[in-house]
Amino acid sequence: MLDRLVDLMLNCRNCVVLTGAGISAESGVPTFRGKEGLWRKFRPEELATMEAFVANSKLVWEWYNWRRTLMGEVKPNPGHYALSELEKIAENFTLITQNVDGLHHMAGTEQILELHGNIYRNKCVGCDSQFSEEDIDPDNIPVCPKCGGKIRPDVVWFGEMLDPEVIQEAYHRSEQADIFLSVGTSAVIHPAASLPVVAKQYQATLVEINPEPTPLTDLADFCFTAKSGEFLPELVSRLKDTLTSGS
Ligand code: OAD
Ligand code: ZN
Repeated sequence: MLDRLVDLMLNCRNCVVLTGAGISAESGVPTFRGKEGLWRKFRPEELATMEAFVANSKLVWEWYNWRRTLMGEVKPNPGHYALSELEKIAENFTLITQNVDGLHHMAGTEQILELHGNIYRNKCVGCDSQFSEEDIDPDNIPVCPKCGGKIRPDVVWFGEMLDPEVIQEAYHRSEQADIFLSVGTSAVIHPAASLPVVAKQYQATLVEINPEPTPLTDLADFCFTAKSGEFLPELVSRLKDTLTSGS
């Protein structure tokens, strides 16, 4: 099965990868829905909605400060690095991520569509101004110097729209994909979860890499029941070997 995928990838013009929390699991970032998932222990409606932020900004900031500290202590794993290698050898490559942890960037991937924002960025609820980590004091519910609005993490919360430009671009790239890899996502949160379905409708070969089955499993042309930090380096090393032996 891996040989067949390597063959297909050698002839692939547009390779698109969608990642979810599972790709960062081997770095030590908790996923949301697994046995140890964050949403097993915390209620998203109390922490990751605008209503929660209005009702209890302090609690929401404490939760994001905790997650920032946790993410600040971790490093990319071989799965992240393999994808940045893949970007270098693929003809056209797009990485779409639902993760807010910045680990793809740290691993060297350049073109990233961050569907759900980035936990290290902040924005004002009043005027949308952006603030970096250095600009704010996250321990004291930061306030916008321009309009006095509260500053919040620049991540997408439940019930919120994704950045229209980012999701539009993600759909566009998915429609163009010859190969679409869905990596480490439970594929239940839309619109992210509809991207692989769209890619498949537009004739992409759909590949899933996940130790557990998901709603995509039956639709996928290839399913690798594996950890991304083990599978992706193997895939990329096979690709590179074939490329060098063929040249
Ligand atoms: P989930 O926690 O829902 O799913 C993580 C997936 O990763 C599961 O299917 C696991 O089986 C898989 N997994 C676990 N370890 C893995 C490994 N080592 N290698 C590969 N896969 C592994 O996370 P997401 O699908 O990313 O939204 O969740 C989607 C969105 O829901 C998140 O972006 C977040 C959350 O609420 C927002 O914050 C807006
Ligand atoms: Zn403002």
